[in-house]
Amino acid sequence: MKASIGNRIVLIGAGDVGIAYAYALVNQGLADHLAIIDHDKLVGEVMDLNHGVVWAPSPTLVTEGTYSDCTDATMVVICAGAAQKPGETRIDLVGKNMTLFEKIVGDVMATGFDGILLVATNPVDILTQAAWRYSGLPASQVIGSGTVLDSARFRFMLGEHYGVAPMSVHASIIGEHGDTELPVFSSANVSGVPLRRDLDGDPAKRERLTQIFTETRDAAYRIIDSKGSTSYGIGMGLARITRAILRNEQVSLPVSTLLRGEYGQEGIYIGVPAVIGRTGVQRVVELELDETERQQFARSANALRAVSEQFAV
Ligand code: 2OP
Repeated sequence: MKASIGNRIVLIGAGDVGIAYAYALVNQGLADHLAIIDHDKLVGEVMDLNHGVVWAPSPTLVTEGTYSDCTDATMVVICAGAAQKPGETRIDLVGKNMTLFEKIVGDVMATGFDGILLVATNPVDILTQAAWRYSGLPASQVIGSGTVLDSARFRFMLGEHYGVAPMSVHASIIGEHGDTELPVFSSANVSGVPLRRDLDGDPAKRERLTQIFTETRDAAYRIIDSKGSTSYGIGMGLARITRAILRNEQVSLPVSTLLRGEYGQEGIYIGVPAVIGRTGVQRVVELELDETERQQFARSANALRAVSEQFAV
């Protein structure tokens, strides 16, 4: 059965990340129809998700999907691909996942899809740029999860440190979703109180904040060592981006998007805050970076550029 009206989301890839996203989506009642494309375990996942719908704020029909579902979908979300194993970096996955992406995006576009393409597969900045090139869609319609998860981790850990909920922490991680990312300490604040106070004051406080960033950056390695993969954090981050799109929220979220001169960078997908609404990325938000942050951002962009040039995306 196909939903005839409303928002359809096609999810490609029902691994740990895809299913965590599907669960968040159904739990939050965000879409009318969720069609999932994969080859494994799908009957069970679809049945299980549908059996929770009665308790959601509004109903989502979950079905086994085919590429034909993409034709009039509002969004296609790609979570398919090889995931990091202990000891691997995100960039190590690029060769394996790039070929898969060319095929997936080609199959999606062959249906006439003209919605928002949201990418979560790693290395997410490189693969989102590849998806943009392979799709021929405007860059505003091709978005990567970018540093939405890193920023959520950072806000959570800062919240714990300062004894407030992460919602009251305003701080971003920008750059590559990966080892070269950076914290924007210069404009970060907790309930309006600038973090600068602690960074520029007591060296012990400065050291603890630096350590919180390091723990944020390396969190995925710890989680992968412990349980084999990360899933719930990214699943909820993807659902947050989805809500911003479906409800045309115009909310600013740190995602991977194409820079065209912003932050001094041209023609590269990288994590920065952007205003998100129904038509995708409406504009990039340019944070005021201090000199160190500017240099770190340029280094992160150069690292990504080197990989994307190697793979001709
Ligand atoms: C994460 O940061 C592995 O990119 C994934 O959780």
